Parts: sequence; structure tokens; C-alpha cells
Amino acid sequence: MILPIEDTPLHRLPNLARHLGVDADQLWVKREDLTGLAGGGNKARKLAAIVAHAVAQGCDHLVTGGGAQSNHARMTAAAANIAGLDCDLVLTPGRPGDESGNFLLDRILGAHIHRLEAAAMPYHELEAAIQARAGRLAEQGRRPYAIPIGGSSALGAATYIPVARELRQRLDPDLVVVAAGSGGTHAGLVAGFGDHGKVLGVDVGARPGLSAAVEELAAQAASHAGLPRPAGRCQMDTAQVGAGYGAPTDAALVALRVAARTDALLLDPVYTAKAMAGLFAVVRASPGMRVVFLHTGGLPGLFASRYAGWLTSSPPASSADGSGTAAGPS
Ligand SMILES: Cc1ncc(COP(=O)(O)O)c(C=O)c1O
Repeated sequence: MILPIEDTPLHRLPNLARHLGVDADQLWVKREDLTGLAGGGNKARKLAAIVAHAVAQGCDHLVTGGGAQSNHARMTAAAANIAGLDCDLVLTPGRPGDESGNFLLDRILGAHIHRLEAAAMPYHELEAAIQARAGRLAEQGRRPYAIPIGGSSALGAATYIPVARELRQRLDPDLVVVAAGSGGTHAGLVAGFGDHGKVLGVDVGARPGLSAAVEELAAQAASHAGLPRPAGRCQMDTAQVGAGYGAPTDAALVALRVAARTDALLLDPVYTAKAMAGLFAVVRASPGMRVVFLHTGGLPGLFASRYAGWLTSSPPASSADGSGTAAGPS
């Protein structure tokens, strides 16, 4: 294996469970934020498989893309360095002066960065821009490997099959809650459980037609691993998106603060805070379930300058603290 992946911890969140009014044994976190690879996150497993494939094909260049604060782009740049490959990143522009967080790390890691002009580019146009960049490199005599947004090929998604198996063996949870951007992590977990009913994605607003994409990717990942097509239909919480991808919401800010102030679990503004807000809603609605929060990482996004004002703002007026009963943590 060119990129070594650490085993990640699985542990209870006892203070958060108490805060939400459930038993400590009912709330767990799988720490996919602690995978290693330049800050960690759910892209590490996907990239381990993708980079091995790229190297086996004789490629010398990784090409991918995303938003200016893409965790996937940052981790692809890191993976390329470890594997001795070049890396081109096609990124949408951040706000003026927004050279912080993941974008700063992309620069430190030495990726070749191509900023797009459109501030927000539709998902499929960004995919096309990644392909176009790879095409230009090929014309120059390079051997590029184009990685889809989020590393969500069937190969990438399938790397979450063993994680689902581990969770089933160790805990047999009723539900895993995960942030869904390109949908690959969600899909791989579903393929591993063989059942859509075991995984709730929380849509962060990155990809149009996300539920259909998850169903398609879950079937492809299962087939890639020689498993049957998963049962059931995709489960997706679409209520946490707010004004769109990367847009702050009150519920995400509450979830981010509560997780930090109970079990010192740090979440990111774009993905995991919205996923935790989705988990709060599920636990409130079905308090009897054993739930695992799959922490997908994203910590550098917390240090993106664009979020500093929001993160330090007064608590939302609605002040829902996630518990429905207990006072919010101070
Ligand atoms: C921190 C974080 N969480 C979750 C996701 C979503 O994962 P996926 O694209 O597999 O749906 C991403 C994707 O970029 C991410 O960076």
C-alpha cells in the first residue's frame, strides 16, 4: 500500500449523549477524521485505493478539483507527494483574501493550482473542468489520472465497505449518520451493510441529484467488491443544507458548539457540523436507537477566514441547543 491508512478509533460520546438525553451506549463516533494524510479525513481511504490504481496504470500526475476549501483537494495534493506524483487542482475561487484553511495547505503542499473564474461552478461543470485539465496534460505528454470530485468513483466508494463491516462487528448500530457531499462515503457504507436503511446521509448541498447518485454509487461499489446490490432506498436528510453548499446555518453552529463543549469533538463548518445537526434531529425523533456519527474530518475548514465571524457570533436567537430539554452548554 503506497498510502498507509491508520486504524481509526470508535468510541462513545458520553457527555453529548447525556446532553441529548440518551444512554451513553447509544451514541458513538467513528473517527475518520484521524486517518492521517495531511490533516486526515474520509478522503484518505479513497485516495489510498485511487493512488494505487493510478500508479499501477503508470500515471505520473493526479488531477482533481473542488471548492477553494476542498478537503479532498488538500488530501489529493498530500497523496500525490507521498506517491511521488505531480498534482493539479482545479478550484473555484474563494473570497478575496481567503488564502487560509485548506487553500493555504494546498499551497504549502505544492500543488499546481488552477483557479476558475466562476465563483460557484455547477458540480457537473467542475467535473468537466477536471477532465479538461487532465486532457491538456495528456496533450503535453503527461500521464494524468483524473479523480472525480470527492474521490467518489466506485473504487473510492468501495473503501468504506470494510468500515461498515467493522461497525457491524463491533457495535451492530441501528444507524450511521454521515455528511454527504459527492455521496461516495455514504454509498460505500451502504454497500458494506448491504442495506440503505443503515445509513443516513446529511446532504450538504454539493451535488445535485444526490440520493440517486448514492443509490447508483452504492450499487457500483457493491458490484466492484462482488457483493449484491444493497437493499432499500437511499435515506437522506435534506433539511440541513440552508442556503447552499458552505452556507452557515444556525443548526450547524449549535451542533458545532455543543459537540465541542460536551466531548471536545471538533467539527467543520461545511460538512460535519451539518451532519451533527442531522444527528441531533434523528436522536430527538428516535431516542431508542444506537447511532454512530461517522466523523469525516474537515478541520482545516474551521480555520478558513470566511467562517471566523460566524463561528464567534452570538448564539442563534432560536437557541435550539440540540437537547430539547437541557440548558445549552456554556
Ligand atoms: C470533511 C468532509 N466530510 C464529508 C465529505 C463528503 O464525503 P463524500 O464526498 O464522500 O460524500 C467531504 C467531501 O469532500 C469532506 O471533505
